Amino acid sequence: MDNKKLLAIFNQQAASYDNQWEKLAPLRDGLYLLLSAVLSDLPNNARILSIGAGTGAEIISLAEKFPGWHFTAVEPSGPMLEVFRHKAEKQGITSRCTFHEGYLDSLPKGEAFHAATSLLVSQFILEQDKRVGFFQSIKQRLRPDGYLISSDLSSDVDSYSYLNLLEIWMRMMSNADVGPEKLNQMRTAYARDVAILPQEKVGEIIASGGFEQPTLFYQCGLIHAWRTKVNVP
Ligand SMILES: C[S@@+](CC[C@H](N)C(=O)[O-])C[C@H]1O[C@@H](n2cnc3c(N)ncnc32)[C@H](O)[C@@H]1O
Repeated sequence: MDNKKLLAIFNQQAASYDNQWEKLAPLRDGLYLLLSAVLSDLPNNARILSIGAGTGAEIISLAEKFPGWHFTAVEPSGPMLEVFRHKAEKQGITSRCTFHEGYLDSLPKGEAFHAATSLLVSQFILEQDKRVGFFQSIKQRLRPDGYLISSDLSSDVDSYSYLNLLEIWMRMMSNADVGPEKLNQMRTAYARDVAILPQEKVGEIIASGGFEQPTLFYQCGLIHAWRTKVNVP
């Protein structure tokens, strides 16, 4: 899907985004539990870059656990970022956040980051070379010892187990009150607008962006999350 259409979808979903996914919070809470362990060796004043920050869920979770960290949220959807801004104010973390409405290429250059998160973002980049380019551009913003945490939907969509996983995934959504129309839209989107690739392939793409071979540290249904470090030759 091109950026304009994707942006329109997230702009339109922004106001209801958090409510809609509330019942599925355990999926991401498990990820955040591990995420904080994965990043816990960073210094007390670490700078974290969150690409595709959305409504700021991962930043808020990390900000609570690591009170000295500073976060830069890169988010092309103004309405999604606005929801995050309100939440950040409520949490009292605004002074620890930089809000950038736009893509990573327009983020002013500054001090390199200790870590970057990109949760459920690269899957929307359908062309493989552009997806590699996305990770390359993240690498350019990181310190030589910087971490990347990336999560995406991942599976071998040609396999029998994907058919089963997808059915379980859709039932879970339905149990969480996602309506039939929305479920149909999701099925279509997964087949057409989301690059759901096997976990080995996603690992290869991340590594081609200039990172060490990533470690898959979390899987929950279709969601997979990898941790890697900048590859210093
Ligand atoms: C599925 S949401 C995930 C939001 C958040 N990371 C989370 O896990 O709740 C994906 C977000 O990435 C943003 N996005 C999509 N493509 C992007 C890109 N190329 N660069 C940065 N952000 C992007 C969208 O606007 C959207 O807010």
